[in-house]
Amino acid sequence: MAVTINGREIAEDVVSKVKLFAAELIKDSGITPGIAVVIVGEDPASQVYVASKGRKARECGFHSEQHTLSAETSEEDLVALVEKLNADPQIHGILVQLPLPKHIDSGRIIQTISPDKDVDGFNFINVGKLGTGEIGTAFVPCTPTGVMLLIERINGRDLSGLNAVVIGRSNIVGKPIFNLLLAHNATVTIAHSKTQDLASICRTADILVAAVGRSQMVKADWVKPGATVIDVGVNRIPAPERGEGKTRLTGDVDFEGVSEVAGAITPVPGGVGPMTIAMLMVATLVAAYRSVGKNPPRF
Ligand code: GUN
Repeated sequence: MAVTINGREIAEDVVSKVKLFAAELIKDSGITPGIAVVIVGEDPASQVYVASKGRKARECGFHSEQHTLSAETSEEDLVALVEKLNADPQIHGILVQLPLPKHIDSGRIIQTISPDKDVDGFNFINVGKLGTGEIGTAFVPCTPTGVMLLIERINGRDLSGLNAVVIGRSNIVGKPIFNLLLAHNATVTIAHSKTQDLASICRTADILVAAVGRSQMVKADWVKPGATVIDVGVNRIPAPERGEGKTRLTGDVDFEGVSEVAGAITPVPGGVGPMTIAMLMVATLVAAYRSVGKNPPRF
């Protein structure tokens, strides 16, 4: 029976370390880590995410700003706000919540964020640094860094000799996880919707990361006995057993079945999810340390 990896507990642990290091930076350098979160429009899910990022930042002792703009905001006005935040010494991390309204070119906005403040790791400079192994000075997207921290708890930091399979090739999850696993010496395969015989490729994995967005797709007979299974999927499915019209969250992994075979597994919810926001706090802390030329702590 697999060990269930408790993402909530590990995220709490990360956040408590962030608090200590933030307090140290404030004491030693007089610098309070600052994050600005920008939201355009009234998408309710985005509002919830943004509010929780602000709450967590304040809990860490950070300076936190939320800029809420109307859905009609022009691309030029949003560019101007990002440029103002780029120049603001109180702000070390800038996050523009996606998706943006259709009339705004998200790519242009992301490339306008200063690479030194790009705590999402979406700017081409940071993508390029990760792709070339310059991780020490990059910002890397927060879900992938959270995934790596969970893997490290089970398999250690050096993954030499281990086979890893990532299902999913998105720019913000699959590809950065691929690069991070490679940087930690794993032998990595990336699989996607066009891959043939996915099940037998997955069976080679000592570390299996599922990030496809298909509910409970990964079955027990896809998993090598003892493997570490990380489920990045968040799928909302009907749950008639909870009452009419009710839903529940599931991952991309059949948790019940795979738990019988894997060595360790993340649940959904309570696995990867809580790590993302914790790693955003880490990225903001790192940005603040770098801004004063101090070596950031490692997590
Ligand atoms: N929308 C959903 N997830 C994210 C994220 O990680 N970063 C940004 N900027 N927007 C998001």
